[in-house]
Amino acid sequence: MNIQHQVQLKPFNTLNLAANASHYIKVHSTDDLIAALNYAKLQQLNVLILSGGSNMLLPEQIQALVLHMDIQGIEFLNEDDNFSTIRVGAGQVWHDFVLWTTTQQLFGLQNLALIPGLVGASPVQNIGAYGVEVGEFIESVQVYDRYNGQFNSILASDCHFAYRHSIFKENPNRYIITHVTFKLRKQPDLKLNYGDLKTAVGDEQTAENLQRQVIQIRQSKLPDPQQFPNVGSFFKNPVVTAAVYEQLAIQFPNMPHYPQPEGQVKIAAGWLIDQAGWKGKQLGMVGMFHKQALVLVNYANATLADVQATYQAVQQDVYQKFGIHLEPEPVLFNDAGLIIPHNTF
Ligand code: EPU
Repeated sequence: MNIQHQVQLKPFNTLNLAANASHYIKVHSTDDLIAALNYAKLQQLNVLILSGGSNMLLPEQIQALVLHMDIQGIEFLNEDDNFSTIRVGAGQVWHDFVLWTTTQQLFGLQNLALIPGLVGASPVQNIGAYGVEVGEFIESVQVYDRYNGQFNSILASDCHFAYRHSIFKENPNRYIITHVTFKLRKQPDLKLNYGDLKTAVGDEQTAENLQRQVIQIRQSKLPDPQQFPNVGSFFKNPVVTAAVYEQLAIQFPNMPHYPQPEGQVKIAAGWLIDQAGWKGKQLGMVGMFHKQALVLVNYANATLADVQATYQAVQQDVYQKFGIHLEPEPVLFNDAGLIIPHNTF
């Protein structure tokens, strides 16, 4: 077992936060995982699961064993006239997997092209874009359950998938995802209902073109983490009651909003932040991106404290103007390697 000590995680998190891990190991298999967990138990260390690092906020010093998930492999499990069932290792790169499904003429994930991160993280916040959420195409998630020390398979219907939510968010320090099993269509069923996607796709209504257009739209709006370190949308789009929405709509009739089940209304956080004056604005080294106000960028060597100062200032300004509390999307870790709730301001 190759445990490394004092490893710098800056290259492994897309916000480029400097974070020194006391212990670190790369996990290539379920056997590696068991060996690493036994080591952590023996050394009385907490375990921090590192996937693609594209949705995490890390402190500068971490006293824990970091498990860098690198389980590879794509395996066809089942096939009928309409669907193929495929089990994918948690360490596969998400975007490469999406591209592969398209070349295999498997349909459903094209709207989710170019989302950063690895397959194993995709069910955690139920990644979603352009009218599709990954949970719709997951059959089950293979996990190691740290509560009972067993490997288990959780059916999608038990994963509590909702907007940017799953059972893995409800029990943040419990499950380690080793594989994800997808059920993908063999006939195209293109989802073109989001915004101007239909116009972008035009007459060439193929999965390849849909995927190409999604990639283009993302590249035109969202910063490349290599150039502008970021974790995608920094806040969730808030969901409010019909009464709250109607009150706000009197004052802000142009506010983008999306009706939800049970009369609730989702509001575009990017618009709220933009209106609160934060688009392209910085506090120290951290600011909100000039082309998409929902994305927080680390412009130069920021620490977690710098990031927190900026996002709390954004939360405060949005709250003052609209009375809405924005909830951060990325996962926050403490210096013992545990996931903790975000402080409210
Ligand atoms: N808007 C502004 N100013 C801004 C940004 C947005 O006025 O600076 C307005 C837009 O004009 C639009 C509305 O806000 O009317 C929504 O913007 P957009 O369509 O760009 O989508 P979003 O709500 O900002 C969500 C997801 C993205 C996903 C896109 C496309 C969340 C938190 N974010 O963004 O997901 O790619 O829809 O489906 O749900 C991510 O989670 O990391 C992510 C990038």
